[in-house]
Amino acid sequence: MMVPTDANFEGNVFGGHILGEIDLVAFIAASRHARASCVTASFDRVDFLRPVHVGDVVDFTATITYVGTSSMEVQVEVRAEPSGGGDVRTVAQAFVTMVAVDRQGRPQPVPPLPLETVEDRLRFEEGRRRMEERRRTRRTSE
Ligand SMILES: CC(C)(COP(=O)(O)OP(=O)(O)OC[C@H]1O[C@@H](n2cnc3c(N)ncnc32)[C@H](O)[C@@H]1OP(=O)(O)O)[C@@H](O)C(=O)NCCC(=O)NCCS
Repeated sequence: MMVPTDANFEGNVFGGHILGEIDLVAFIAASRHARASCVTASFDRVDFLRPVHVGDVVDFTATITYVGTSSMEVQVEVRAEPSGGGDVRTVAQAFVTMVAVDRQGRPQPVPPLPLETVEDRLRFEEGRRRMEERRRTRRTSE
């Protein structure tokens, strides 16, 4: 539940607070999959679609959509609803890239992602394309 310290003086929750929570749930999902510690390698653009207010209950759902050798793409959906119940609204969505690391902070391989349904395979393929795009962008900005 969002409390006054998460928000500005008008009761609107800071985007940075939501980003921090997205990072945390992405970390939990990735570390569980990798069975190793992970670091945040990158955040894609995040759009805040609707405001979140003090008193809202915010739900974060993390899904691993793609895994490479040591990297994982985690999709995080953020939904909010008033604490007394009411309309559930999607307030943000983000893609976070997490990398599994060993004790020295070096990337380490992660297990493959089980792809059981057509939807899983489609999501994986889309994730692979986004990951390639990120690689291309990184190369051109280096
Ligand atoms: C992320 C990190 C471990 C990558 O280490 P590196 O030595 O550059 O490793 P590599 O180039 O071999 O890349 C390892 C994997 O990370 C991916 N990766 C590296 N930088 C990335 C980025 N900016 N965005 C997305 N993926 C990235 C690579 O594509 C590669 O994926 P793969 O193993 O699935 O093919 C390293 O850059 C790091 O420690 N960064 C700081 C992370 C951190 O502290 N985050 C919190 C900030 S407060």
